[in-house]
Amino acid sequence: MGTEVIRLGDVMLAEVKGVDITKPIEPETWATVYQAFLDHGVLVFRDQPLTPGLMVQFATYFGELQPHITKKYWHPEFNELIVMTNLDENGEINPKDDSRGDTWHTDMCYFEEPAKATMLHTQQIPDVGGDTQFGNMTKAFDEMPVTLKNRIENKMATFRYGGVRVTGQERLEKADRGKPPVPHPAIRTHPETGRRSVFVNPAHAVSIEGMEDDEAWELMEEVFAWCIQERFQDRHHWRMNDTVIWDNRCCWHRATANNPLRQPRIFLRTTVRGTPTH
Ligand SMILES: [Fe+2]
Repeated sequence: MGTEVIRLGDVMLAEVKGVDITKPIEPETWATVYQAFLDHGVLVFRDQPLTPGLMVQFATYFGELQPHITKKYWHPEFNELIVMTNLDENGEINPKDDSRGDTWHTDMCYFEEPAKATMLHTQQIPDVGGDTQFGNMTKAFDEMPVTLKNRIENKMATFRYGGVRVTGQERLEKADRGKPPVPHPAIRTHPETGRRSVFVNPAHAVSIEGMEDDEAWELMEEVFAWCIQERFQDRHHWRMNDTVIWDNRCCWHRATANNPLRQPRIFLRTTVRGTPTH
């Protein structure tokens, strides 16, 4: 069967058809898949159920997998996988988990080497809601007004696990889980495509080097207001047995946090190790 790449969204979401992701992939087919990943930023593979072992096998084509910062999320057999669930230990819906990840962000940007890519595979999805949104930060940067571009493009920003929503030293330390803040360029150059994109994000960027906090926040708010425009976004509505992978080096994402029927939402997730940003 031939490999087909079909645009599903306006700016970045594409479906790959004709590749059996449960089996070893021929080099030629893999080259097409990987090029589609670099060209589009978010790929969807449908109707292929994955066991945890098969997910690790497929994800490893994109690079070395890395365990999550929080051990309690680890999958019992594969520490490269976490189980992302809105259920608590008693199998009840935990409303806090329904809103987890609902601020635009990139995964593991609070590490010196932020994740290259994130892969999710469905385990259980609600009948309504629970979509994932993606933001094309290459397009957002390309189309940014020059005056704003000039103000942000050579800045280094500081990123923190606990982000900006936590206040008070003790709560902050707890939220950061002992991880010191790390600097990254506000505008990042993609190590493979060479294209530039907005890397500062509202969930984890907390300050800009060489600027007073008020001034830095004013600038970041302007950048974020530009980046969250709908014309830079696509939205994925999950179907069972979907596998989605996105490029954290040039895409933002967020969970939509709506689960009106209060049903379980469970994914297997893994992240591919990245490289330094500067
Ligand atoms: Fe995320």
